[in-house]
Amino acid sequence: MSSVSPWLAYVIYDPPVSTEIKPKAGLEDIIATSSSICFIDGDRGILAYRGFDIHDLAPHATFEEVCYLLWHGRLPNRAELGDLQSQFGAGRALPDGVIRLLRQLPPSEAMDTLRTAASALAHYDRDASDDSPAANYRKAVRLTAQMGSLVAAIGRLEQNHGPIDPDPVMGFAANFLYQLTGTRPDALAVRALDCALVLHADHELNASTFAARVAAATLTDIHSAIVCGIGALKGPLHGGANAEVMKMLLDFGATASPEKVETTIREKLARKEKIPGFGHRVYKTMDPRAGHLRQLSKDLGKRSGQTHWVEMSERIEALVKGEKKLNPNVDFYSASMYYALGIPVSLYTPIFAVSRTSGWTAHVLEQYANNRLIRPRAEYTGPSVPQPWVPLEQR
Ligand code: ACO
Repeated sequence: MSSVSPWLAYVIYDPPVSTEIKPKAGLEDIIATSSSICFIDGDRGILAYRGFDIHDLAPHATFEEVCYLLWHGRLPNRAELGDLQSQFGAGRALPDGVIRLLRQLPPSEAMDTLRTAASALAHYDRDASDDSPAANYRKAVRLTAQMGSLVAAIGRLEQNHGPIDPDPVMGFAANFLYQLTGTRPDALAVRALDCALVLHADHELNASTFAARVAAATLTDIHSAIVCGIGALKGPLHGGANAEVMKMLLDFGATASPEKVETTIREKLARKEKIPGFGHRVYKTMDPRAGHLRQLSKDLGKRSGQTHWVEMSERIEALVKGEKKLNPNVDFYSASMYYALGIPVSLYTPIFAVSRTSGWTAHVLEQYANNRLIRPRAEYTGPSVPQPWVPLEQR
């Protein structure tokens, strides 16, 4: 026998959310918060951090300057930049317990290891129990510095080498390459990575930043919020696409003919397969970051005598543009650029995370400064309410 609680029969069940307002799939074009950190005009292809156009920042700014800009809302003077560089230098070392953890984890995707290790950092952070604005800022700086060391250590361990202690005096990009390779990088390599870090530092309310802000809005700690960001960034529709791009290029092979590439891409598109590194929710035109990365990829390719990957990428760009009117996004040319730098494919998305930690933390600090719990509603599409309760023995 089925039963309905007698009082329920008299309750009028109003739909919980107005039926007039329909959800937009993927929250497309929904303004979900206010922020003074990042400006995007998707129709005109404009991206600016705190008012500074990415086309000015990419060729001129260092990653450290951009971190300061994102966190403080203005560019640093020489003394302020020097202070931040010292804080980064002092914050780079990883706790022994985290190095031990890295050694103990089973072989895993680098992003999974990074997610776990970033979470572990919280256990050793001297400000862990202090959620004051000053302590949160110190944690933002330290976490950004440590993320670089973590990714370099993950890369070393993947190659069966031991982690290398950071150099507190080197700049962010130079130290990362040094910790990864054990050799001091040349100026072109440092400039290329610095520029890539600048280009990836922030991007308004992208999926991972939104995830981090939603977490922060519960007033959870900054490490927890960043771990949410890392988890969201890993997905192939987001930051995970850069590794997928390189896997696609490597699948073609260095000696693939233009005809082979063209036929395969056309077949993929005909099967409605997504080509990694193309399309964007916000940009209706060229992603302004992609042109800088294409140029870096060309410069580095020329130097290493490996221009075929960027040439293949350009052919794919022309094809996908022609066939689908889709432009490359930030992930497309970063792939061949990192490859020309000699960085293992497994580290492409983790390097994105290193840079984006600056943006994630800037957004988390902004959220804390003017917080309200983020708790939207869902349009209910389930069975009508109330369903009759059927005791277990009668089901
Ligand atoms: N290759 C082929 N077709 C594509 C691609 C692509 N890369 N991207 C979008 N399309 C097509 C879709 O198939 C769809 O076609 P349809 O209308 O005929 O069905 C149409 O374009 C709209 O695509 P959506 O996926 O609905 O667009 P949305 O705005 O939801 O997604 C996204 C944007 C996720 C970036 C998408 O373009 C994509 O999956 N790209 C490939 C993955 C990628 O490069 N991600 C990195 C994005 S940048 C970043 O996160 C850092």
